[in-house]
Amino acid sequence: MIVLDRQRGLFTLHTRSTTYQMKVDDRGVLLHTYYGGRVDGADLSYLIREADRGFSPNPGEAGHCRTYSLDTLPQEYSTCGVGDFRLPSLELVHADGSRVADLRCVGCELREGKYALEGLPAFHGAGGETLAVFLRDETARVEVELLYGVFEEYDLITRAARIVNRGESAVRLCRAASLCLDLPRGDLDLITFDGRHVMERCPARAALRPGVQSVGSVRGTSSHQHNPFVVLCESDAGEDHGLCWGAMLLYSGNFEAAAERSQFERSRLVMGIHPYHFCYTLAPGEGFTTPEAAMVCSASGFARMSQLFHRAIRERLLRDNRPGRKPVLVNSWEATYFDFDEEKLLALARASAPLGVELFVLDDGWFGTRNNDRGGLGDWWVNREKLPGGLGSLARAVNALGMEFGLWIEPEMVSEDSRLYREHPDWVLCAPGRAYTRGRSQLVLDFTRREVRDDIYGALGQVLSGANITYLKWDMNRSLSEVWSAALPPERQGEVFHRYVLGVYDMLERFRRDYPHILIEGCSGGGGRFDGGMLYYTPQIWCSDNTDAVDRLRIQYGTSFCYPACTMGAHVSAVPNETNRRVTPLETRGVVAMSGVLGYEMDLTRITGEEGRAIAGQIRRYKACWDLVAEGDYYRLSSPFDGGPYTAWAHVARDRRRALVSVVTGATFAAPPFMALRLKGLDPALRYRVNGEAAYSGAALMAAGYPLPMPQGDYQSLQLLLEAE
Ligand code: DGJ
Repeated sequence: MIVLDRQRGLFTLHTRSTTYQMKVDDRGVLLHTYYGGRVDGADLSYLIREADRGFSPNPGEAGHCRTYSLDTLPQEYSTCGVGDFRLPSLELVHADGSRVADLRCVGCELREGKYALEGLPAFHGAGGETLAVFLRDETARVEVELLYGVFEEYDLITRAARIVNRGESAVRLCRAASLCLDLPRGDLDLITFDGRHVMERCPARAALRPGVQSVGSVRGTSSHQHNPFVVLCESDAGEDHGLCWGAMLLYSGNFEAAAERSQFERSRLVMGIHPYHFCYTLAPGEGFTTPEAAMVCSASGFARMSQLFHRAIRERLLRDNRPGRKPVLVNSWEATYFDFDEEKLLALARASAPLGVELFVLDDGWFGTRNNDRGGLGDWWVNREKLPGGLGSLARAVNALGMEFGLWIEPEMVSEDSRLYREHPDWVLCAPGRAYTRGRSQLVLDFTRREVRDDIYGALGQVLSGANITYLKWDMNRSLSEVWSAALPPERQGEVFHRYVLGVYDMLERFRRDYPHILIEGCSGGGGRFDGGMLYYTPQIWCSDNTDAVDRLRIQYGTSFCYPACTMGAHVSAVPNETNRRVTPLETRGVVAMSGVLGYEMDLTRITGEEGRAIAGQIRRYKACWDLVAEGDYYRLSSPFDGGPYTAWAHVARDRRRALVSVVTGATFAAPPFMALRLKGLDPALRYRVNGEAAYSGAALMAAGYPLPMPQGDYQSLQLLLEAE
């Protein structure tokens, strides 16, 4: 609910349990007054105090009043050059070279329905309202429209900004944040989700120090290294208690999330496109729209915050053209790599179908001269030496086994050893007169250009029309360098990073529109582009190239803080694991993978009969419990980073009548203590049968726990299906 009090210049957004408020002060400056637990009918600006602070200057019209300074007041959208020295949200360079943005509120509008952002991902939903607040720099005649969407039942508030040049000269935009959040205290912790290729999204928590702390990406993608999701929280906040604010950016390119603990013990979080190499020219009349940011505030810790993000993402972000359970897949990559022919693939398919696998995915290596990762990208036609009958006959044979057929693509890339590159060497991102920096031996196509996208789209369209393909894995295997487009003038080269992302979104949207029967799974060397932006187009994303069950505990744990299990591609692979050579039991690999979208990525033609029966059993169990994993509330029962003897988590049905509890133990040690696992989220008044056997009350299972068996060896696992009597 949005409450507008035009008289007092008070804008209040209420969700079910939270309130967000801003107020226009006497000088027209839009101040942030509150974001926290729900407060009805209050003007919370009484919390804001003015004081004469040394070296906090006073705006011109304040005369000699020394208590009014933008440096000390909580800003809704911070500016530059007018005396607020904390993190700016907006940076403008005017025609005369000055860098000042003095924003004053000039109006507001309540609109029916949630706003949409052209060409950009955004939360969506029937009904809802939009608050638009208009700010203006009168001198330059630059307008900023702040957009707010309210999703009450998820306690989710979305934001974006549109900056329009209404003046007569061009303006350069050097920073345009999506979100600015000024909180009235400095003693907060910041949690970021960091890592590297094959070890993504590991949480890092630290108290805010005075000054700025930031994470971000300048790689052109949201990256393996940092995720565009962060949490600010009270220093003692935990899974079940404490105030926390989660913020996600729906963007798949360069981003920055910066938090500043300022001199008077306030915290400011600013999130948006990274200002590195960002410079967008706004000619008179032109506008720029920032990506959307979304915030959830929870007064009862991280579990609730995550559950709210999960529900909102599932129900209001994913545009799933194939709702329901996703097919259990087998992927050819770790089974064959580039070394396959039709017979080898069909042998894998024949071995998979009887186990309950529903989708056969042909990964890299099926096109052009792609026999290793140094050639072929861009040549999107079937390699007839490997597949003489083409994809059509392969797909038919797979379909005849009762499975769907899916295909790997990497549309944004080109190999120098390809016909595409030989014909269009100017279609890559490169800096004039300079050598290329290669990544995985490949170059990046200039997706800012419509003709480049059209060409790739046409070629892939031919492929899709030649075979019954119902799934695509959209991969992207390098970071961007020499980011320069032959299609843009020098003064617009600072737009290339962003235009590239828009190009990717445009392509994805065309695929979605023209091939509504195709499920697209996102991927960027595993989880290098696992963000809310991609999820808008690809409802599942390959979580990591690391398929080791123990490392995956960490990766999936970190990922779960924002993203729901139904978005995480997770596969059982062979041991020793190809990434870290660890050996884990097949059952444990299954337990970990079925906490996402289950798949298999191993040579199933070489498994024993016993392994085959175990896999068939895992798939049956997954299908029976899928609704819990995909739609239940997620509880992290312990952290794999704590060094404890086990990692446990649970998926609890929304009506609390069923739950799936999973436990994986660590490396074994002698004479372990007796352990009981305390569950969460159950109905204390119900009695739950555990794996069809003894029943215990929800109260007992939550307060006293469930006894865990003694581990017999490394990395054992246990799954408990709880069903109310
Ligand atoms: C990187 C992906 O993450 C892998 O799963 C696989 O598809 C390879 N690329 C293929 O080149």
